[in-house]
Parts: sequence; C-alpha cells; structure tokens
Amino acid sequence: MRNRRAALAALAGATSLALTLSACGETTTSGGRTRSGEGTIGIAMPTQASQRWLTDGKSVVDDLKAKGYDAQLVYGQDNPKTQVAQIEKLIKDGVDALIIAAIDNKSLDGVLQQAAAAKIPVISYDRLILGTRNVDYYVSFDNEQVGRLQALYIVDKLGLEKGKGPFNIELFAGSPDDNNTKYFFDGSMHLLQPFIDSGQLVVRSGQTALDKVTTLRWDGPTAQRRMDTLLSQSYRSRKVDAVLSPYDGISIGVLNALKADGYGTGSKPLPVITGQDAELPSVKSIIAGQQSQTIYKDVRELASVAADMADDLLNDRTPKVNNRRSYNNGVKDVPAQLLQPTSVDKTNYEYVLVAGGFYKDAQLK
Ligand code: GAL
Repeated sequence: MRNRRAALAALAGATSLALTLSACGETTTSGGRTRSGEGTIGIAMPTQASQRWLTDGKSVVDDLKAKGYDAQLVYGQDNPKTQVAQIEKLIKDGVDALIIAAIDNKSLDGVLQQAAAAKIPVISYDRLILGTRNVDYYVSFDNEQVGRLQALYIVDKLGLEKGKGPFNIELFAGSPDDNNTKYFFDGSMHLLQPFIDSGQLVVRSGQTALDKVTTLRWDGPTAQRRMDTLLSQSYRSRKVDAVLSPYDGISIGVLNALKADGYGTGSKPLPVITGQDAELPSVKSIIAGQQSQTIYKDVRELASVAADMADDLLNDRTPKVNNRRSYNNGVKDVPAQLLQPTSVDKTNYEYVLVAGGFYKDAQLK
C-alpha cells in the first residue's frame, strides 16, 4: 500500500501537525475504523516441519483476510539466511507491515533496517527479535510461565513438596538462538533448583547449565541423540524418573531414546516427561500414557492478536499491550501483549483441546 507509506513519510515530516490531528481525533473514520483492510502484510514463519507453525501461518492469513488485507506467507525452513532473503523480498514487493517469527533472533538487524527505511512496521511474533530498534511490537505467551507450568508438573507428579525423593531428572532446553529458550528454562529452574539443592532431584549427567542442555533448532532427532548418550553414560544401572522437555518435538525424540532403552514396561516405566505446543503426535502420546504433559498455547489467539496489531498500526491506532518492561531486546523494551498458557495432560485434554475446538475427537483416535 504505497499510499500508506507516503502518508507515513509525510507524517514523519510533519510530526507536530500529525500529533495535533490525532489528538483531536481528526482522522477519516467510518464506524470507528480507519482505512481498515487496505494493503498487504508479509508474514515470515520459521518452519513447516512442525505442526504449530502451520497453524500459526494459516490463522494469521485467515485473520488478515477477514479484515480485508492481502497476505504473503513465507516459511524459512529453519535456515536463518533463507529467512533474511525472504524478508528482503517481502520488503521489495512493497508489503505494508511485517509479522515475523524469527529463526535466529539476532540475524535480522540488517534486513529490518531496510524495513525501517521503507517505513514498514514490524511485529515480532512469538519469538522476540533481538539487537535492533526496528521492531515495534511483540506478541507472545508468558514464556516464563510456560517453564513454570512444566516444572510444576514434575514437582507435583513426583511429590516433591511432600518431601519425596531422591529422583533422577535430566534437563532439556530449546534452541540457543531463540530468545524464548532462556525464559522457558529460567521459569522451570526457578521451581526445580531448590529441589536439586536439597538433593530430592539429582541430575546424574551433571548437565544443568543452559549452554549444556540446549537443542539446536528444537530438533527432535538431536534431542534423541543427546538422550541416548545420557542413558548410556549416566543410567546404565539407574533409572531416569523425570525429563524436563520444553517442546513436544523434543519430547518425542526423548521418548524414542527411552523406548529404545527398554523404558515403558512394568519394571521400567517411562519417566514424567513434559512438553509444549499440544502438537498432535504428543497429544496422542499423552492419551497413550507415554508423554505426560504438554503446554497448550492457543496459537489461534496469538494469530488474532498479531493481525489486530498490524491492523492497528496501519490505521494509526496504538495496539493493545499488557507488558512494557519484561521484553528488552538488547536495544529497547519492546511493548508486548502476552497471552496465558495452559498445562494439559490426560485428565484435561478433552476439556481444553477438544471442547476448546483445537482438535476434533476423531483426530485424536
Ligand atoms: C518456540 C515456541 C515454542 C515452540 C518452539 C519450537 O519459540 O515458543 O512454542 O514452538 O519454538 O518451534
């Protein structure tokens, strides 16, 4: 929408006039809305290899179309360079706003300078983009709360508050280049560390520092290999009782390693194992009594907030946010709208996921 950018450029040159006009509410509105629905929004998502990002992409496109926008959706196949090239192309194609879920959160400064030069507003989607001032808003879930809910599940299931233990636990974290990784891990460790300190939880591998437990690109097979190694090095004559896993794809990898090592039988039950995203294979695994829990984040809601933010920005409205200080990207505090995650296991998946319309019963059979 070239006229939008021309208008923005004019605004930049006449700030005081613009401020006066908006302060007086003198914009061309109809039914309280201003030029809603004109233009094209570029959406850059990280990968098609995981179900959640397919749902995210489709939901953002549907929501924008419902508002009258065109949408260009691209997937970076988990390759940071591909994603940068895709965003460059979206800018050249003249999109009016960008919604980006970064692959490598520090790789986008250069391309976002181009976006800023073209006066294209940028919304950081789910994962905060770091090291640039050219990111306007952030929409995500309360990422520390995700980690807390995972840890809480382990604490409850093992009866740690009742003084039970010692239990063996191993820790997994997400991709080191994703800003969320640290928030999930810190949220979890805040609750687990006191039990490690008291000896009720024992990490036999000794790998407790974040840089020792990350999983590049959240890759399941990478996690499976690490779990294989942990089992053969630290659990030859012992049993693992819990695994902190930050994401369903990692949980499935860890479960594969455990099953190959004979876990899942009466004498060697599977450990408590957490997850995130309520992806279909993991929900089926929970129903089958293998993965214990996942964190459900309604990405339809996330998509809808992102679409609202883009619509607001293109119509000179200030997007709604509920957090202005928790998410500093190294250059600035990025105003954020954070949604609430929900812990899901065998006892509540019907209510949360099926009654909530995220899955149909038939999909879970
Ligand atoms: C994170 C996201 C998680 C999970 C993970 C792997 O950034 O917050 O929900 O999807 O990426 O895709």
